Amino acid sequence: MPSPVPRRGISGSCVRTGSPQRSPGHETNGEGDLVTGPESTPSATDRVALVTGGNRGIGFEIARQLGAAGLRVALGCRRPADAADRVTALRDAGTEATAVELDVIAPGSPGRAVATVMEVYGRLDVLVNNAGIAIDAWPSHRPSEPDLDRVRTTIETNLFGAWACVGAAVPAMRANRYGRIVNLSSTMASIELTDDPRSPAYRVSKSALNMLTVVVAEDLRADGILVNAASPGYTRSDMSPKATRPVEDGADTPVWLATLPNDGPTGGFFYEREPLPW
Ligand SMILES: NC(=O)c1ccc[n+]([C@@H]2O[C@H](COP(=O)([O-])OP(=O)(O)OC[C@H]3O[C@@H](n4cnc5c(N)ncnc54)[C@H](OP(=O)(O)O)[C@@H]3O)[C@@H](O)[C@H]2O)c1
Repeated sequence: MPSPVPRRGISGSCVRTGSPQRSPGHETNGEGDLVTGPESTPSATDRVALVTGGNRGIGFEIARQLGAAGLRVALGCRRPADAADRVTALRDAGTEATAVELDVIAPGSPGRAVATVMEVYGRLDVLVNNAGIAIDAWPSHRPSEPDLDRVRTTIETNLFGAWACVGAAVPAMRANRYGRIVNLSSTMASIELTDDPRSPAYRVSKSALNMLTVVVAEDLRADGILVNAASPGYTRSDMSPKATRPVEDGADTPVWLATLPNDGPTGGFFYEREPLPW
């Protein structure tokens, strides 16, 4: 994966933020958490998070940090048996953790994964759409000479996979009138910041994921479910082996968005906990 475009200032950012709608009669505890009515924030130890692609890279670190914050964590993995050591590491650190089978592009898999989470924990509060692929780095793929098979494969995972997981997770969140959805986007998705043609399929897929973030956030405004996109930054992982930014830093903004108080932003795009231009 190529290095990302350098981050510019965020003036002119068109990030959309705002509090979710509330029913009359709800009160907050001073930290933005509702303390009356059906949208009361469950305690951290009651909350359950599903992290897609949670078996390695930024996804595993997001799971680790959510566990350290007290949440129960399900690692969504294509091969859960291979993630046994990861589950053990989380449990050794005091986190209630499990691995669930989840291939975000396999028909029915997101629904089955959510059903498994519900069987094991009885609720689902947080979905982190972290699973992603980057398979069209320059110079092998120019947008003016498109390899549409690679474009389709990229969009299938990075957009449709995340969308399918949203569809599977929202009913469980709606039932509790509480939810947080975080979509792992990229600075490379920013139309305003893009000044080179590298990785066109990846960029397009993540820009579309940003729009998905906005429309789902609008759809769920009245349901107590906050939906945001996060750029982890150019972070060292199998996807970006030359990066120097540690996964601890890359996971910070997604974890912040996954644990927002009820009056936190929704429909936004963030890096380092600050709005990023679309
Ligand atoms: N690293 C960066 O510099 C960077 C920068 C900006 C944004 N991001 C985004 O951050 C997210 C995590 O990136 P990363 O660097 O941690 O990547 P990574 O190390 O390559 O890990 C990717 C994860 O996604 C999973 N995955 C891929 N396709 C899947 C599918 N169909 N179903 C379920 N899981 C699937 C992989 O599972 P397997 O182990 O089964 O392959 C793996 O767990 C991605 O969305 C990426 O686009 C990364």
